[in-house]
Amino acid sequence: MNISITLEQVEQKYQKYYKRLNNALSTCFTKTSPETLYPPAQYILEGKGKRIRPFLTLLACEAVSGFSKNAINTAIAIEILHNSTLAHDDIMDQADLRHGRPTIHVKWNTNAAILSGDMMIAFAYEYILQTNTPRHDELVHLLNEAHITICEGQAIDMEFEQRKDATITDYLDMISKKTGRLISASLEAGGIVGDGTSEQLEKLVIFGNKIGRAFQVQDDYLDIMAEDGKSGKVSGGDVINGKKTYLLLRSLDLATDSEKNLLQSIIDNNGISPERVPEIRGIYERCGVLDEARELINADTEAALSAVETLPYDEGREYLKGFALKLMKRDF
Ligand code: IPE
Ligand code: IPE
Ligand code: MG
Ligand code: MG
Ligand code: MG
Repeated sequence: MNISITLEQVEQKYQKYYKRLNNALSTCFTKTSPETLYPPAQYILEGKGKRIRPFLTLLACEAVSGFSKNAINTAIAIEILHNSTLAHDDIMDQADLRHGRPTIHVKWNTNAAILSGDMMIAFAYEYILQTNTPRHDELVHLLNEAHITICEGQAIDMEFEQRKDATITDYLDMISKKTGRLISASLEAGGIVGDGTSEQLEKLVIFGNKIGRAFQVQDDYLDIMAEDGKSGKVSGGDVINGKKTYLLLRSLDLATDSEKNLLQSIIDNNGISPERVPEIRGIYERCGVLDEARELINADTEAALSAVETLPYDEGREYLKGFALKLMKRDF
């Protein structure tokens, strides 16, 4: 697939917008009292989040010939909503670390993580309403629909932990809901603020669905394969918690019989002890599932690039494509 800008140009734009987004995010929750409400919200937004979704909002706005400065409040809304889901996800996943720091429920307590997450959702809508666009109704409906879809995905994710019969098809449906829809909605929202046509929005959504799926498969991959400390999460947290990821489900088909027994025990016992993570990593390395995951990520990225090929603003479209390629190669 051809792309007419360099990955270095994509990186420069990402860095520039990353600073702009972080500046805006740093002033969202500055109240200090109640101390178990605002400070946890401020804390999670101060983490080293990659700001992928709000960056996509800004790029999508540009790709339909809009001005990205008009989309900044919508971008902030989406990043706040995303972080509210992370605060709650870490309770659900019993995750102690995010970006190398204790999660909210560990640093404060579970109630603080529930409440600050709830409050962030309300703030997200305030930022949507402050966006410079006549199309607020569409944005509010979009955010609602995306949020409901995330809740569906997260519920299925939790039910998955109890199920012994989950398939790859079930898994792909689950990740399109818990992760894919917010990524595609980030693009759609940027397209709305840029006053895109429904046809253009459709293309942005297809692009988002594809990169969203690739992104979650990569997240599963990095959960256990990231170089030491680079993910900022507990390494192998997914297998320790018995989560049915792409790697676990597919390697159950690909591994040798004795390896399969060990993998099956993760499912039967709802997890495995942290000391055994290296053994599981070894199975993944041997059985070919890592190459398969890579192929899926590559194919989805290619499909994403072709979906946006006919968007109107050349430069904006090329940055979207360039960022999809950058995401495909991420190691963090
Ligand atoms: C984490 O998303 C949750 C997933 C959907 C995998 P990110 O990996 O984008 O997290 P941040 O925004 O960088 O913290
Ligand atoms: C999280 O998926 C998806 C949402 C928060 C909606 P994960 O549970 O895999 O995300 P991480 O790995 O904790 O960031
Ligand atoms: Mg989770
Ligand atoms: Mg999690
Ligand atoms: Mg994960």
